[in-house]
Amino acid sequence: MGLLKTPIALPFNITRMGYVVLTSSNFEKTRFFYESGLGLEVTFQDQNMLCFRAIEETYHHSLIFEKVDEGETGKCRRVGYRMQTDHDVKEAFNFFKSRGDKVDFVERPFQGLTIKVIDCLGVSVEFCATMEQSKNRMQKFHTHAGGKLAFLDHIQIACPDVQEVYQWYNDLGFRLSEYTANDGTEEMWGVWLKRKNNTQDIVFSNGAGPRLHHIAYHTPEVANVIHAADVMSSMGLAGSMDRAPGRHGIGNAFFIYFRDPDGHRVEIFTSHYNFIDIDQEPKRWDLTDTTRSQLWGFPAPKKWFYEASEFDGIEVKKPLKDAPPVTLEDFLESW
Ligand SMILES: [Fe+2]
Repeated sequence: MGLLKTPIALPFNITRMGYVVLTSSNFEKTRFFYESGLGLEVTFQDQNMLCFRAIEETYHHSLIFEKVDEGETGKCRRVGYRMQTDHDVKEAFNFFKSRGDKVDFVERPFQGLTIKVIDCLGVSVEFCATMEQSKNRMQKFHTHAGGKLAFLDHIQIACPDVQEVYQWYNDLGFRLSEYTANDGTEEMWGVWLKRKNNTQDIVFSNGAGPRLHHIAYHTPEVANVIHAADVMSSMGLAGSMDRAPGRHGIGNAFFIYFRDPDGHRVEIFTSHYNFIDIDQEPKRWDLTDTTRSQLWGFPAPKKWFYEASEFDGIEVKKPLKDAPPVTLEDFLESW
C-alpha cells in the first residue's frame, strides 16, 4: 500500500494530541515522580483521579491517572485529541457514525463536549474542543522545576500492523512527516503522523500491541533535559531512567526517557522541527539504519524496545513484521 494521500477537506479539524489517561496503583508515588521529580503541576486530586499539566498549559489537564489497587500493573485507558470547535466534535461524531465506527458522546470532568470512538486497534480515542482554563505558570519562573516540561507533544503506540493503523489515522487527516520502511521498500515499520505544526502528534511503530510505548513532553532547552536527569538523580529517582540522553535521527529530538512508578514511559525532549507546508515530502528511513533512533550510534536498551504499557482490556497481538531491532546489548557485544 505504501504512502497515502491525506485528505485535506474533512468536515472536522483535529488540532493536536490533547491528553492521556493512565492507571496508577499509588497516587503518592505517582505525584512524587511527576510533581516533585519532573515538575508537572497537580490541578486536581481525589480518591480516584489525579490530574497534571505542564508549564505552558492553560487547560486543566494533559495527563490523568485513575486509581487502581496496589500491585496492579499500569495500563493505558484512553488517549484524547483536541479539535478546533464543538462543531468539529459533532461533525466527527457524524463521520464516525456514518462509516460504522463505535462512537459515543461521553461526560468527562473539566472537559466540554467530548466523543469517544474505538480505533482500528481497539483503543479508546476521545476528541474534545474545550477544557476548563486557568492561568498557567509560564512566567512564574520561580515555580519551574525538574525538567521544566512545557506541554504534552505526542505519544507513541506499538502495534502489530502499522500499515492498517496508518490508513485509519490518515483518513482523519493525520499527515505523514517521517517513516521507517523495510529496506528499499515502502512497507511501513513506523509512521510519524502529525496534525499540529511539528513532526508528530502520534507515532505508530511495529511491535507487540497495541501498547502505549511512551508519552512525550516538550521542554524548550537541551539544558532542561539534562537538568531533569540531575533532579531525578538527586531525588533518588535515578533508577527510573529508561534510556540515557541522546538524539533521535527521526524528528531530530534531543531526548531522555524515564519510567514512572507504574512502568509508564515518559520522554522529555526538545528540538522537533516545523512540518507545515503541503509540498514538504515525508522523510524516509531504512529499517536497518540504526541512526534513525539514535543519531550518535548507541542504540536503545532492550527494555526500551520491548516493554510498554498495555491498554486496559485489549489483547496484545504479535507484530505482523518480524524485525528485531539492534539493541544496546547487541551493540556492546561487538564494541
Ligand atoms: Fe517520542
